Amino acid sequence: MSEAAPLRRAALGAGRYFGAAVRADQLAGDDRLRAVLLRDCSVITPEIHLKWDAVEPAPGAWRHGAADDLVAFGKDHGIQVRGHTLIWEQSTPRWARERLLHDRDWALVDRWFGAVLPRYRDAIRQWDVVNEPIDTEHGDGGMRRTSFQRAFGNDYVERALRAAHAQAPAAALYINDYSFDYANPVDAARRTALLRLIERLKRRDVPIHGIGLQAHLDLAKGALDEAGLGRFLREVAGFGLEIAVTELDVRESDRRAPLPLRDRRVADAVAAYLGVVLAEPAVKGVITWGLSDRDSWLQDQDSRNRTDLAGLNRGLPYDALLGRKPMYWTIRQAFAEARAIA
Ligand code: G3I
Repeated sequence: MSEAAPLRRAALGAGRYFGAAVRADQLAGDDRLRAVLLRDCSVITPEIHLKWDAVEPAPGAWRHGAADDLVAFGKDHGIQVRGHTLIWEQSTPRWARERLLHDRDWALVDRWFGAVLPRYRDAIRQWDVVNEPIDTEHGDGGMRRTSFQRAFGNDYVERALRAAHAQAPAAALYINDYSFDYANPVDAARRTALLRLIERLKRRDVPIHGIGLQAHLDLAKGALDEAGLGRFLREVAGFGLEIAVTELDVRESDRRAPLPLRDRRVADAVAAYLGVVLAEPAVKGVITWGLSDRDSWLQDQDSRNRTDLAGLNRGLPYDALLGRKPMYWTIRQAFAEARAIA
C-alpha cells in the first residue's frame, strides 16, 4: 500500500468500508474537512440530521434540508449514507414522547418512518432502526425503559423492524448499541442481553440484518475483553447478521500526559479493538464518530472548536487542525493486517 493510500482504499483492500459521522454545517463551512472526507471516506453517517427531533422538532414542522444536503453530497461523490437513527429515546422530540405515552398509537411511529424511509429509499441502504435498546442495569428484562418500551412493551423493537422493512424493503436494518467491549460484568451482561434479543427476533422471522457496535472506547475502563468480544461477534455472525463498527472514538483518561504519549494510548486502544473486530469476517466496515477532534461530541462544551490542541480530547483520527494522528495510521494498519489474514 502506498504511503498516501487513504483509509477508504485500505479498507477496501480488506473487503471493508471506512467512513465517518459528519454534520452538514461542518461540511458546508470547511473545504479542508470536505477534502479529507472525500479522500478517506466511502460512507458517511449524518451525526444528527436524520434524528426525529432534528427532522420534526414540532409536530408537522418538517426539516429535511440538512439530511437532503448530505444525501446529495453522497450522491455527487459516490459516498454511501448510513441512516441514523429511527428510534432513539434521546433524539425523540418531547412532544412525540408525550404523545406516544398518552395515545399508545403506533400510527405516530409509522408516520415518522414514512417521512424519511421512502424519501431516501434509493440513497440510504442501511438504517439504524433502533438505537440503544439494551439496559441490563435498570431495564426490563434487559431492555431499556423508554417511551416506546413503555407505550408498546418490549415488542416495540420487533414492531419497528417490521414497520421499517415494510417502508424500505431493500434496506439493511440494524440495531445499534454501545458497551460490549470491556472486561467488566456490565459489558458482559449487555452482550448476553443483545444476543437474547437477536435470538427472539430471529425465532419470529423479524427482518433484522445487522448489529452496529458504537465502539465509544474509554481509556478509563481498563482492558478490552478480547476473548468475550470475539466470541460475541462470532455468535452475532452465527445468526446470519452482518456487523458494523458505527461510532468509533476514544475517550481519554489523562489529558495532562505529553501529547505523544496520549496519542499513543489512543492509537493502541484502537489497534487492540480493531485487531479483534476485523478478525471477524461479518464485520463489514468501520465508521468513526467524526474525523477531527475539533468536532467530537467528547469535547467539553467550552473546549469545542478551540484550537488549543492539548486541551481537547484526542480520540479521533485527525487533530483539531486536521493533522493526521497515530490513530489514523493505526486504522490503516489494522485494515492492512486484516487483508493479510483474509
Ligand atoms: O444545532 C443545535 C443548535 O442550533 C442549538 O443552538 C444547540 C443548543 O443546544 O444545540 C445544537 O444541537 C445539538 C447538536 O448535537 C449539534 O451540536 C444538540 O443540542 C445536541 O443534543 C446534539 O448532540 C448530538 C447527540 O447525539 C444527540 O443527538 C451529538 O452531536 C452526537 O454526537 C450524538 O451522537 C450520539 C449517537 O447519535 C448515538 N450514540 C451516542 C452518540 C454520542 O452521544
